[in-house]
Amino acid sequence: MGLLIKNGEIITADSRYKADIYAEGETITRIGQNLEAPPGTEVIDATGKYVFPGFIDPHVHIYLPFMATFAKDTHETGSKAALMGGTTTYIEMCCPSRNDDTLEGYQLWKSKAEGNSYCDYTFHMAVSKFDEKTEGQLREIVADGISSFKIFLSYKNFFGVDDGEMYQTLRLAKELGVIVTAHCENAELVGQLQQKLLSEGKTGPEWHEPSRPESVEAEGTARFATFLENTGATGYVVHLSCKPALDAAMAAKSRGVPIYIESVIPHFLLDKTYAERGGVEAMKYIMSPPLRDKRNHKVLWDALAQGFIDTVGTDHCPFDTEQKLLGKDAFTAIPNGIPAIEDRVNLLYTYGVSRGHLDIHRFVDAASTKAAKLFGLFPRKGTIAVGSDADLVVYDPQYRGTISVKTQHVNNDYNGFEGFEIDGRPSVVTVRGKVAVRDGQFVGEKGRGKLLRREPMYF
Ligand code: URP
Ligand code: ZN
Ligand code: ZN
Repeated sequence: MGLLIKNGEIITADSRYKADIYAEGETITRIGQNLEAPPGTEVIDATGKYVFPGFIDPHVHIYLPFMATFAKDTHETGSKAALMGGTTTYIEMCCPSRNDDTLEGYQLWKSKAEGNSYCDYTFHMAVSKFDEKTEGQLREIVADGISSFKIFLSYKNFFGVDDGEMYQTLRLAKELGVIVTAHCENAELVGQLQQKLLSEGKTGPEWHEPSRPESVEAEGTARFATFLENTGATGYVVHLSCKPALDAAMAAKSRGVPIYIESVIPHFLLDKTYAERGGVEAMKYIMSPPLRDKRNHKVLWDALAQGFIDTVGTDHCPFDTEQKLLGKDAFTAIPNGIPAIEDRVNLLYTYGVSRGHLDIHRFVDAASTKAAKLFGLFPRKGTIAVGSDADLVVYDPQYRGTISVKTQHVNNDYNGFEGFEIDGRPSVVTVRGKVAVRDGQFVGEKGRGKLLRREPMYF
């Protein structure tokens, strides 16, 4: 059965026009005026609405054993939440720990997703150690269609790599045409500062930010950039949160280092006072890098508007209240992470486009197109064009609502954005030509989501 979306205003990263879109099977086959379609075609009237390319979240955690527990979502709950919020593809961090076998980890992460996801997905493959065996396995994983790595400069002895391992990973990445995404915080400094604060009796969640100050993130970012510069590899800083880290990345960009920047939606809208509310209310807002001083919001919005920040993801990583309470006696044991997969697009649209801080094309670029280009998905994903997958979001800019745990699909007992107003929402979302959200209601098909295999990029 075909799909015809009529009378919408198509908005991509670089164009805006009124036209109809016809998809035959999974692919867009025609874009034009007054398109007619064969009997049996599903026709959607998009009058008064925008039609965006399906949004891409470049940084999510679905299956994640971490900090003595597991992130709460499954691919079933996570992908449903993603689609309700207009995200039709996500890139999950495949994160076996240092003590796990890398290839076995990759197979395990794949098995968790297969047959369970409502939307398309792929992985960034974490390199949690580097030795001869792992190198061979990474080559196999890249050949299987995973053309991006992830390294953590933090979380020593768990996911984290040392400088030697980072160097070897970047050399391999350069050889294979793989982009390396990196969590940039200095592990040694975080560990020392945590111990110092705990020994002073500073055990509450409000001490999480002081244990990983902005300078610690700036150092990690600068060091990652220096390693890129000396290996020729292409890098992508994940969840950049503050001005000193942005300055470090921009300094590297300006001397020609191929480095891209992601920030995540919590850092644009929440600040460290949320983690100073006391008790479990504060623990809900513990993530790394931590929520920062509010003065960083304008810095991030401006950098995003100017295209210095390339993408906006979520770092979606839900832990419920009971899990957060694992850290009731020491902030170092609070599972790090916050959910946002369902709300990213609406929040970015509302507080960016609708409230006048972000051009609508830059919005599409940052939430979809740029990630598709950086991670080998473009033009299959990230745009609306003949030949592209029919992942489409019919977006209602007249909708007014409020974010609440009561209406969310994420598997968690709180929403960090509770009470935030939204000025729009997806009314129809399609996954490769099939409707998954209709009139804001979920109608998706479990298992429709496929693993997206990607070619190396050789930037
Ligand atoms: O706090 C966070 N970010 N949790 C998930 C793991 C990571 O660092 O991305
Ligand atoms: Zn991280
Ligand atoms: Zn993450």
